[in-house]
Amino acid sequence: MELLDSIKQKARKYNKRIVLPEGYEERTIKAADIAIAENLAQIILIGDPAEIKVHAAKLGLKNLDKATIVNPIANPKKDHYVKMMVEIRKAKGMTIEEASKLIEDPLYLGVLMIKNGDADGEVSGADHSTGDVLRPAFHYVKTAPGITVVSGAFIMILQDKSFGDNGVLIFADGAVHPNPTDKELAEIAVASAHTAKVIAGMEPKVALLSFSTKGSAKHELVDKVISATKIAQLLAPEILIDGELQGDAALVESIGQKKAPGSKIAGRANVLVFPDLNCGNIAYKLVQRLAHAEAIGPILQGMAAPINDLSRGCSVSDIVSMIAITANQAAGIK
Ligand code: ACO
Repeated sequence: MELLDSIKQKARKYNKRIVLPEGYEERTIKAADIAIAENLAQIILIGDPAEIKVHAAKLGLKNLDKATIVNPIANPKKDHYVKMMVEIRKAKGMTIEEASKLIEDPLYLGVLMIKNGDADGEVSGADHSTGDVLRPAFHYVKTAPGITVVSGAFIMILQDKSFGDNGVLIFADGAVHPNPTDKELAEIAVASAHTAKVIAGMEPKVALLSFSTKGSAKHELVDKVISATKIAQLLAPEILIDGELQGDAALVESIGQKKAPGSKIAGRANVLVFPDLNCGNIAYKLVQRLAHAEAIGPILQGMAAPINDLSRGCSVSDIVSMIAITANQAAGIK
């Protein structure tokens, strides 16, 4: 079965509540309509119910009467959410006045619903920048226990099935954290292994990539990757993690055996962790374009509840897929 089909099938079983804050955005409500028709999740839209109904009628959407619609202006839980916002951010100077304004912003309301247990996950960003989507999430949902940094993974589906797991690899971080420390890079490696397992159903073999393999080059940039590898191995001894490895040593069996003899990962990696966001973002785009690979993501990882940021150039089917992925992440959160 195709990976996305199996992700959708699992989403149907989990039946999670996914909030879509951009309730007036055309691709988003079309995707909501499809997600409801395909039973991928219970859909919550944020916006004025009357206005959303007018949009839905204009677009000929038939299923939105099955969505829950939450009005950000006349919301019965508003005072409760405002109280929570002040409580969570009082050390940062949050006041009732400021919180009362912010909670009318759908992107804040969405994350407060998740924080209060009224939704299981969020998909947003068809009409907003990455920063606009992530800031409320960082402030109120925060990171998962033991994780301090959020990062973005891509599922890369290659035409050449000899790499990764039958052509499927996870790349991270390609989307969020520009310059991780060694400890943060280690967390990104562990979170990426979790994504590989929960979303792609893979047994993760994690390679921390560098321009050096096992001491072939000496540089402070290499030292960061060596240190991150050690920390990641301590954080998650049950996961196969190795580094520092060059891209070829990570992916090609004969080169891996030569450059990193004895490594359980070299030549067999299916999760590639890049040393910083320049490398990760450039790498996924090059593989997508030059190798005609399919790139699914970014899938945000490390958050206490799943919140995913769409590209503003996304299609309706990208949003439908992300709803299913978010439902899978919600089911995988302990
Ligand atoms: N994980 C967890 N928390 C974080 C992270 C992170 N990666 N980054 C910031 N935070 C927290 C901060 O600790 C801070 O918390 P506090 O207010 O409680 O102290 C809060 O979030 C705000 O931090 P800022 O430093 O002000 O972060 P800012 O909001 O300015 O930026 C952002 C965060 C938007 C993610 C920034 O790091 C960024 O622009 N990253 C690059 C995104 C990007 O452009 N990606 C490439 C394009 S995506 C693509 O191609 C698919």
